[in-house]
Amino acid sequence: MRRILITAGPTREHIDPVRFISNHSTGEFGYEIAKEAKERGCLVTLVSGPTALKAPKAVRLITIESAIAMRRAVLKEFPKSDCVIMTAAVSDWRVLSIAKKKIKKRRNKNMVLELVENPDILKELGGMKKKDKILVGFSLETEDLEKNAARKLKEKNLDLIIATRLKAGSTVFGNSNIDILMIDRFGKRANVCHKSKRELAKIILDRVEEFGL
Ligand code: CTP
Repeated sequence: MRRILITAGPTREHIDPVRFISNHSTGEFGYEIAKEAKERGCLVTLVSGPTALKAPKAVRLITIESAIAMRRAVLKEFPKSDCVIMTAAVSDWRVLSIAKKKIKKRRNKNMVLELVENPDILKELGGMKKKDKILVGFSLETEDLEKNAARKLKEKNLDLIIATRLKAGSTVFGNSNIDILMIDRFGKRANVCHKSKRELAKIILDRVEEFGL
């Protein structure tokens, strides 16, 4: 049976017991891909950050919060997977030291948080990738969409990257109809316009199946 590992949603990087840093990811893209992969008969593991979505039926759901926890779960599942699709909006940074108690505001003082870089999970997988595994990344850009996506595809040793443009004043997060650019490892490019995430999940999995899944 074909085994597919999908990541979805945001990560949460804690500051103290009541606060965190995160992003607007809804997780919808990853959940749609997980449902579609299940319908195609795959064994699906979904590693998800916090979302408001219902767990897809008959999909193994692993919930995590931080990027470090997502990395741990993904590395554990990676050897058993034929394909990994990383839709998650992994926070690029985490707080250097998480306060054990709620940080109190101090009068007349600015708050400075020291952040450290999180591990790049997908890049790590790319470094360990064997020929028979298929690796798919996502790329959300506000500028130079094609150039940045092509660079990430190469740097992370991916088979396919799905790039989306975040237009000024709008948000791709939660939007129902979006445009994507797909670039594969052979440099083949395809623009897919104005489709729902449900429709895009099918198109992306069709492409992944062409890679031999
Ligand atoms: N990704 C990851 N680990 C990270 C950051 C990103 O695995 N720490 C994955 C995402 O899940 C996505 C891809 O890498 O599939 C690209 O993520 P993106 O945030 O667009 O790119 P970055 O590598 O963070 O590059 P930049 O900050 O230059 O946009």
